[in-house]
Amino acid sequence: MEKQRREELIAGALEARERAYAPYSHYAVGAALLTAEGEIYQGCNVENASYGVSCCAERTAFFKAVSEGRRQFQAIAVAGGMEGCAPVDYAYPCGICRQVMQELGGADFIVVVAKSREDFVEYRLEELLPFGFGGESIK
Ligand code: THU
Repeated sequence: MEKQRREELIAGALEARERAYAPYSHYAVGAALLTAEGEIYQGCNVENASYGVSCCAERTAFFKAVSEGRRQFQAIAVAGGMEGCAPVDYAYPCGICRQVMQELGGADFIVVVAKSREDFVEYRLEELLPFGFGGESIK
């Protein structure tokens, strides 16, 4: 994807990560989601004492955007690591978040996983979720 857009998304993910609510895992994740229209929605993980209720950063961003009427998406940047420290590893999206990307992004959706503004990897969703199950499968 275009360099300037990618930089904006990574900066958005790193910023959102600072707002993570992760009192149980202490693993802070931020995401920045680019809509088809060019807007950016940020998300962070939001945990719960009933662990299964927790929501990942990526889904927080998607659900915010969808609830505001957005329906088409180009790309997402994700950054994660232990809170209070810069990311050490690439925080690849979990399987449930990949499935949400399949639903709302599709095969050409771009996923940028960043440790910092300079250190990132970029994939098409199809690479992260091959043979994905989507709406087309049940027509
Ligand atoms: N987490 C995310 O926010 N995104 C992912 O794709 C993987 C995991 C969060 C969930 C939980 O709050 C913490 O990271 C540890 O699993």
